[in-house]
Amino acid sequence: MRVIFFLLASIIWNQQVPCTLAKDSTPDDYLAMADESLGRGLNEKAIGLYEKGISALGENESLLTVMSLETNMASALSAVGRNEESIKSYRKAILAYKAKIDEIDDPETVSHANDIASTASFYMGMVYQDMSEPQKAVDAYGYTYVLDPKHWASLANLASVLHDQMKLHDDALDAYNKAYEILTQTEYEPTDPPEEANPILSQIQYRIGLCLSHNLDRKCALSDDPDMKPVSCKEMATHAFSLAVQFDDRNESAKHMLATITADATMKRASNEYVKNLFDEYAQNFEHSLVEELGYTGYEKLRRGFDRALGDKIEPFSLVVDAGCGTGLVGEQFRNVSSYLIGVDLSQAILDEAEKMRPGLYDERIAADVMDVFRQRKPISLIVAADSYIYFGDLQPLFEAMVEGLADNGVAAFTLENVDAESEETLTETKPDWRWQLTASGRFAHRKDYVESIATDVGLEVMYNEVMDGFRHEHGKSVRGNMFIVKKVMNEAEL
Ligand SMILES: *[C@@H]1O[C@H](CO)[C@@H](O)[C@H](O)[C@H]1NC(C)=O
Ligand SMILES: *[C@@H]1O[C@H](CO)[C@@H](O)[C@H](O)[C@H]1NC(C)=O
Ligand SMILES: *[C@@H]1O[C@H](CO)[C@@H](O)[C@H](O)[C@H]1NC(C)=O
Repeated sequence: MRVIFFLLASIIWNQQVPCTLAKDSTPDDYLAMADESLGRGLNEKAIGLYEKGISALGENESLLTVMSLETNMASALSAVGRNEESIKSYRKAILAYKAKIDEIDDPETVSHANDIASTASFYMGMVYQDMSEPQKAVDAYGYTYVLDPKHWASLANLASVLHDQMKLHDDALDAYNKAYEILTQTEYEPTDPPEEANPILSQIQYRIGLCLSHNLDRKCALSDDPDMKPVSCKEMATHAFSLAVQFDDRNESAKHMLATITADATMKRASNEYVKNLFDEYAQNFEHSLVEELGYTGYEKLRRGFDRALGDKIEPFSLVVDAGCGTGLVGEQFRNVSSYLIGVDLSQAILDEAEKMRPGLYDERIAADVMDVFRQRKPISLIVAADSYIYFGDLQPLFEAMVEGLADNGVAAFTLENVDAESEETLTETKPDWRWQLTASGRFAHRKDYVESIATDVGLEVMYNEVMDGFRHEHGKSVRGNMFIVKKVMNEAEL
């Protein structure tokens, strides 16, 4: 696949067009007439006029006139497929620039000549790319960048040649990153900025992701800064693909790559720090945004599912742990089946908020990691966890901690998310045995079969399962999920 970010061979220098050809027409007259023909798509006519202009050039002709005639003729030639001749003309423009630029004092002329030379070199790169001359294309794009360090398109095209044709993925990565930097900095206007930046930024990030995906087990440096800790290329590629999706959320290829790369991500759970900060910041507004804005109903559904699974004669549970309790939405649902109810959350701020909103709901509130609490407070008769296991990727350690903490025949009721229908289809095709996936929102989605097999492995019997599509909305889309009610099966040896 060849990617050309910038295709339009525009006319570089336009001026007043004389009405008729006079006997004493100057090179500038020819240039203006030729440009006009080229602008109207009359390529052959334009080429003829550029040729006349070039043969009328005098010994001491203005550098700008010479460069413009050659460059625009080259564009006309490439438009009619005369690539070799086109290259010759671009070259002449650049050679004229190199020969004369040092003699010119007028800064405006210097800057204009510089623009024409960098543009000529850029177009020449595209013609070379068309001719499958990757090394020459690279040299031409490189020279454009030397003349004009704000020329993002030359870097983007350079990167695509390095990546697609020369397989120099690290060099390509470097060039894509520079192009991205130019487009996203705010200190100056890039050369020829795209009308719509987002699709271009998406494409660049997508291709950065591809460059990084060539060797996912390697460590990648985040920047030239030697103090920066290297991170896995996979993590960086994931970041790049998720940016690509953010810049263009309808792009299927980007979504596909993100889905594939994040399946069974090396990241096994979100760090406690991340989750704690998320909810500390969120605390005041937590319930409002969850219930009002996201249309969250998971807590009620979990209780109803629980009742369906256990029947209507539910005896109170002596010790209940609400794992990841938040402001107490779930605790409230399970209060009337709990003799002693402990709310556990990583965020102290949200525990304080729970006490403020629902005084006395919890007999005890603990700011800690739920896995530690399971082990410390055993035997626990019921664990409820609505939307808190979604911060775990690998469920094995979590389920092991549950089994350890639960009393014999103890029950756990929890929800997990599923990927969206599209990603599920993709994964079923590309990675049918996927287990979990880090989603763009930073949570984990789990395959139902995986959840059930881990549960069975650690000694939890799945009593009940329910699909919970649409229990929350995000970016206008309903989130899909699953509810599970499991029971600790008594070890045969202990019976
Ligand atoms: C071109 O410029 C040079 C140096 O200024 C001068 O000697 C020469 O006569 C000029 N030639 C023409 C045709 O004007
Ligand atoms: C999606 O992204 C890829 C890679 O950036 C690009 O080649 C493709 O044209 C995009 N497709 C759409 C429909 O925008
Ligand atoms: C217990 O509380 C839940 C949630 O508020 C409610 O749906 C249920 O009817 C209650 N059960 C009893 C027996 O009061």
